[in-house]
Amino acid sequence: MTSSSLDNAMFGLFSTHALHLADKHGVFVHLIEEGAATPDRIAAARRIDAETLERLLLVLAAVSVVERDADGSYRLARALVPSFDPQNPRYIGGFVRHLVTNTTGQLQQLDAYLTRGKAAVDAELPSPFETIYRDEAATGAFLEAMWQLSYGVSHELAQLAGLEDVRHLVDVGGASGAFAVAALGRYPDLRVTVYDLPQVGPFLERTRDEQGLGERLSFAPGDFFREALPAADCLSFGYILSDWEDKTCVELLRKAYDACASGGRVLLMERLFDEDGGPLATAAQNLSMHVETYGRHRTAEEYFGLLREAGFTDCAVHRSTWDKHLVMGRKP
Ligand SMILES: C[S@@+](CC[C@H](N)C(=O)[O-])C[C@H]1O[C@@H](n2cnc3c(N)ncnc32)[C@H](O)[C@@H]1O
Repeated sequence: MTSSSLDNAMFGLFSTHALHLADKHGVFVHLIEEGAATPDRIAAARRIDAETLERLLLVLAAVSVVERDADGSYRLARALVPSFDPQNPRYIGGFVRHLVTNTTGQLQQLDAYLTRGKAAVDAELPSPFETIYRDEAATGAFLEAMWQLSYGVSHELAQLAGLEDVRHLVDVGGASGAFAVAALGRYPDLRVTVYDLPQVGPFLERTRDEQGLGERLSFAPGDFFREALPAADCLSFGYILSDWEDKTCVELLRKAYDACASGGRVLLMERLFDEDGGPLATAAQNLSMHVETYGRHRTAEEYFGLLREAGFTDCAVHRSTWDKHLVMGRKP
């Protein structure tokens, strides 16, 4: 029997945790490598408790992540193999871990937001990136989750951006370099500077060394609220504006306008709301943005409005086959 939308809504908590634990304990990798297997077999191979595993697999079968055969063995749904194969660019295990280890705790704040308002509650809390970058381990875990969210789609976004005429791109808040690496791989004459908070530098430099990108990829440490942005003929913002309220976004885009060469472009790479308020992933992440940051997700039209307010023209949206899309504006 298929689950009702009420069941799916009410018991989502269980499936998120089941996803995370199956990924964490190598259950999906086992199913990918060995094919269908019984809980006993998987549990023996992964040295985990068989009964707990079977209960987790029953939840995952009910939400169609795994399929249960008549003999009681389980297989990973074929379409989801890339999402749970750590070697695949579509792997989302790190992001699911972020949902469980960070987002779950922060969702408790929504209750206080409802009764006291976000501004009053946030005033008593450290700023988002003070919490996210509280130590090196937390910094590394966040940047790994961002890489997993952004690297796969970045190849398509770099293609959609059409950067053949760009020589120097500044990726503002470019983190450990997911978009930079994809763009450099596609455009041999391109040079990229990742501009980000100083804590991010060692992670970007590791990416540069691992990918053998040498001087084509550099890091500029800075705080975009305190300084001008480095000059470039193209500036990109991936999942940046969704961290901030409209007024702050326009301030950042004005800085990008000042830093951008005439005729150059700004690229915004974001989840987008449809006009009807969907899809679910954007609606859920919009709630997440509310507790983790000061931002929200927007429609393409709303991004056009922010771009125009900062002076950009020729606004256009290019949708990818993933859930991160490209909105562009041009400096006249
Ligand atoms: C949500 S992440 C996006 C990472 C990456 N662009 C992507 O699309 O996956 C936001 C990024 O903004 C950076 N950031 C936050 N505040 C900043 C500031 N004041 N100045 C510069 N970068 C900042 C963070 O360090 C982080 O890398």
